[in-house]
Amino acid sequence: MTRSVRICLLPGDGIGPEIMREAVKVLRAVGERWDVGFELSEALLGGIAIDETGSPLPAETLAEARAADAVLLAAIGGPKWDTTDPAKPRPEQGLLGIRKELGLYANLRPVRIFPPLRGASSLKPEALEGVDMLIVRELTGGLYFGERGREADSPGAATGGGAGRRAYDTLDYREYEIERIARTAFEAAAGRRGRLHSVDKANVLESSRLWREVVHEVARDYPGVELIDQLVDNTAMQLVRQPAQFDVMVTENMFGDILSDEASMLTGSLGMLASASLGDGTALYEPSHGSAPDIAGLGVANPLAMLLSVEMMFRHSLGMPEAADTLSGAIARTLDDGYRTRDIADETTDPAMLVGTVEMGDLVVARL
Ligand code: IPM
Ligand code: MG
Repeated sequence: MTRSVRICLLPGDGIGPEIMREAVKVLRAVGERWDVGFELSEALLGGIAIDETGSPLPAETLAEARAADAVLLAAIGGPKWDTTDPAKPRPEQGLLGIRKELGLYANLRPVRIFPPLRGASSLKPEALEGVDMLIVRELTGGLYFGERGREADSPGAATGGGAGRRAYDTLDYREYEIERIARTAFEAAAGRRGRLHSVDKANVLESSRLWREVVHEVARDYPGVELIDQLVDNTAMQLVRQPAQFDVMVTENMFGDILSDEASMLTGSLGMLASASLGDGTALYEPSHGSAPDIAGLGVANPLAMLLSVEMMFRHSLGMPEAADTLSGAIARTLDDGYRTRDIADETTDPAMLVGTVEMGDLVVARL
């Protein structure tokens, strides 16, 4: 009997709908081959949801997501909705809202080098030797979700400066939040090369000192994993100095946001970095890149981070490791054969091998 799987699709804004179409093509092909019926439902999130409903995360979207076996998200946001007015809705509230509502506290971002793309990285090819890391970013706490506020007219007495507007965000973590993300990271490291870097700013921040304490307590349950504390500024430097030292890295929400964009450059393009956001219920899969409004609608966006996110969904939510291996093999062969979207092309790329979004999707599907 055909197995049926329910996927909630959130194409979002910018290049989102274009790359989502390629993901759907892959799902159709995989469904046929593995005899799985993918029931796809599309819902609104981000800017398009603001335009159509006034809310970046409509209640129907949340209900669809909760009812699904997995959620696939492309990208949200764009200049159309950029505002500094706290009273206006922003697309990013939709993304942060769905992460929080689904309890997706663990964001896995694998940084994997496809050998033919070495030349597309901003680092020298020698520096990329042996790079294969997993960034485990805490996703529902820290600076993104702490208490925040604005004052229209703050007296300014504390600083000795003049009166004026004031704004603040708070970096807040509770023990259980650190403990569960640490466990996710230790489990991942135990299944890989057994090395975990815990990244913090314990020389300055109280929240980082608690982070470090709790991570070391969890470490007692994983004697086979080597734990290394590293300060976040040093990590930013080590990522471009000697990236092969990292196996698994675990860190606070905002540090992870910044470090994962930096690490994506090792792969050649932010267009190659997939992600899985896991919690206790339905998981969500999305590329780590944004909606790239500058190239939206041009048909040139790289769909591979989206397809690699589908691969992660097969593995983590759907129990389809074979389909996952087949998809990642098809992506690797497409790159081996020399096809490139423009973000991963370099001066040695034959212009005849430069392809658009749809063609890249077709090439991968043909190799499944
Ligand atoms: C990411 C993105 C988001 C984040 C934005 C779009 C809110 O940069 O997933 O890394 O900061 O988490
Ligand atoms: Mg980011």
